[in-house]
Amino acid sequence: MKILSVVGARPEFIQAAPVSRALRQRHHEVLVHTGQHYDYRMSQTFFDELGIPTPDYNLEVGSGSHARQTGEILIRMEEVMLREKPDLVIVRGDTNSTLAGALAASKLHIPVAHIEAGERSFDRRMPEEINRLVADRLADLFFCVSQKAVRHLAAEGIHTRVHWVGDVMLDAMLTNRLLARERSTALRDLGLSPRSYALVTVHRAANTDDPERLGGIARALNAVEENVIFPVHPRTRRAIESAGIQFKRHVRLIEPVGYLDMMMLEENARLIATDSGGVQREAYFLGVPCLTLRDETEWVETVEVGWNCLVGADPEKILQAWHTFAPPAERPPIFGDGHASEAIARHIDAWSTPDNAGKAF
Ligand code: UD1
Ligand code: UDP
Repeated sequence: MKILSVVGARPEFIQAAPVSRALRQRHHEVLVHTGQHYDYRMSQTFFDELGIPTPDYNLEVGSGSHARQTGEILIRMEEVMLREKPDLVIVRGDTNSTLAGALAASKLHIPVAHIEAGERSFDRRMPEEINRLVADRLADLFFCVSQKAVRHLAAEGIHTRVHWVGDVMLDAMLTNRLLARERSTALRDLGLSPRSYALVTVHRAANTDDPERLGGIARALNAVEENVIFPVHPRTRRAIESAGIQFKRHVRLIEPVGYLDMMMLEENARLIATDSGGVQREAYFLGVPCLTLRDETEWVETVEVGWNCLVGADPEKILQAWHTFAPPAERPPIFGDGHASEAIARHIDAWSTPDNAGKAF
């Protein structure tokens, strides 16, 4: 079977590695990079480090407004799909690349599989919520990270071809953890010892595009008495500069890091504070307490089991949790067993057998 996989943003590259490996055992995969992320540190570094196959196409759409970026991907993706005529298109998560990939395929009557289906924040002001709602309307095969996502789909009337497979992010981490320990020099380069610092990431529009929220997060970081390592997303760097925010010396703003360095920075942090979906889950996999710099999260299970604390962007709330948050000893395996990619490949195999052919329509 010919499978066209769509990737465009940082977490999609990281997930592409284990999924491609599993799919390519039995299928022909055409990998399409939309070009949504394009800086070396936001894109190529992951391909180099993780052995992701070189994309067959790079649509080079670059940045733009939501309509422009999504529209450009849609137009360029349609051409590729018409040329390649895939039997299945795989999209992942909730980016503009996900939305455009799912829409282009559906309009051409190509079945769509959605990895990370059923996640919801129930906040339609988040661009990602719109992207995942639409992708799930259009998809034919649904691969869910958790049972909660299966329930969300059921509540929206989606019951068939829904599979709980676990989290491909966990597959990526387990595959690369030893390699990260061997190869990463991040701790040494930054002069850090384990548990002597906190790791921070911020990139959500709700935080970067609202100077009050970004300023609130900055005030909290400036007030802690601990080293803070902050790899800054390009969008956040621009926002910090245009809001004229200054950080004290203990808050070290660095360029975005590669995945192996990020693993090591996460694993050795005393605390993680983030608005990233991927980083919240990785904190949980690694057993590092996490403060989420948002008012809600898709990853509610991590909050329910006591390992993640929602603090929003209010400096007092952030500081209070920063000093007192203490997760329990138990960390149940809510994100599966680290073999989500193989499970996805098995479900696709079963779906593609002659007996099942056409049932997605
Ligand atoms: C996107 C996804 C978000 C995901 C995140 C992962 C959407 C709507 N959002 O958000 O779900 O969590 O990726 O990181 O798809 N930029 C650069 N260089 C790059 C990439 C971006 O400078 O290589 C800057 C540009 O100024 C751009 C801005 O960052 O306008 C935002 O990039 P974009 O891809 O639109 O959204 P993200 O915030 O990265
Ligand atoms: N990440 C990375 N380098 C960084 C910041 C994040 O490798 O400087 C990784 C992180 O470990 C996780 C993924 O990027 O695997 C998450 O991406 P991001 O936070 O951009 O998006 P989200 O998960 O929120 O969609």
